Amino acid sequence: MITGVPGTSGDGGAGAAGAGPIRLARPDVGADELAAISEVLESGQLTMGPWVETFEEALARAVGTAHAVAVSSGTAALHLAMLALGIGEGDEVIVPAYTFPATANAVELCRGRAVLVDVDPETFLVRPELVAEAVTPRTRAVLAVHLFGRPVEWEELQTAVPQDVPLVEDAAGALGARYRETACGALGLMACLSFHPRKIVTTGEGGAVTTDESELAASIRRLRHHGIAGGTPADIPSPGLNYRLADVLCALGVPQLERLESLLAARERVAGWYEERLAHIVGAPGVSEGDRHGWQAYVVTLDRRDEALAGLRAEGIEAQIGTYAVSALTAYRHRGSFPGADRAYARALALPFAGTMTEDEVDRVATALVRYA
Ligand SMILES: Cc1ncc(COP(=O)(O)O)c(C=O)c1O
Repeated sequence: MITGVPGTSGDGGAGAAGAGPIRLARPDVGADELAAISEVLESGQLTMGPWVETFEEALARAVGTAHAVAVSSGTAALHLAMLALGIGEGDEVIVPAYTFPATANAVELCRGRAVLVDVDPETFLVRPELVAEAVTPRTRAVLAVHLFGRPVEWEELQTAVPQDVPLVEDAAGALGARYRETACGALGLMACLSFHPRKIVTTGEGGAVTTDESELAASIRRLRHHGIAGGTPADIPSPGLNYRLADVLCALGVPQLERLESLLAARERVAGWYEERLAHIVGAPGVSEGDRHGWQAYVVTLDRRDEALAGLRAEGIEAQIGTYAVSALTAYRHRGSFPGADRAYARALALPFAGTMTEDEVDRVATALVRYA
């Protein structure tokens, strides 16, 4: 199914303003990032140096957890979180049927079973009452996805599962988001973040696991570095991977973390411009009372999605599908019926979105889109 459908992870490279193309994403990076990277280059130490810790400390502060462990991608973060929980043969992990496929892949690559649960096609979030129905004695965890940056209904999800079943956040797109008073990334036993260029803070590729649990953080650190435990001589008590994030990439992220609040405020402003123009004509994204949206993406819903996608692209506007109905992918077929995920997959449209967008650009996108409403 992925074949022939462009991926949902456009690289977000620089785009032109005015009547030129409008890119799907445009990272907000500049002189501060260049200066930080120059420092790394001049130091001659491109990886396993001091910038990793600086980045991790800034991230832990931003999220409000005791630990943040930087890794090479959001996918790596999910994989390591599942390995750290010891997910294996016969274990079930509950995953939304509508999410980026890495959420489910992380479980199955550990030989666990991703038990798909349907979503609300308007909010794109997993339905807690269906999570409750999916719990079995083999359920080892729930992967709670704050899709596109919208916080999941955390308390409802907590009450849907037995207390000994941990909730792990897929907060790939939720840095900056808040559920009530708590930052996404600090809600679950662990949280997995991504720094892909469509995310609010980007290191090109990158990710992290945040947690308050020292043992889990230590386990993730070992697993990202071949399984090497500290001490002399170094030993490998159990095998690991190389999922490290290089210093040169951590340096790119540090100035962005320092201005996270202004990055989010800029995205909120652009989301507001879209809302003014589109909320009365298409399904526009929202957030529950008391929460803060992380605005990883601006994803609307409409019946003529495919026509709109083609039409926008023909005008140089790089729109994209929302994300995947995992349940419709070959690897996950025949796992039940998921009308919410199917509907979301058919109707969701991600519009160009970045804190650096101008109101003129938003106007252009909105004017093009209303033809298909
Ligand atoms: C919900 C979700 N989970 C996981 C990932 C994977 O992150 P990465 O691309 O950094 O591997 C993404 C990426 O877009 C995502 O949206």
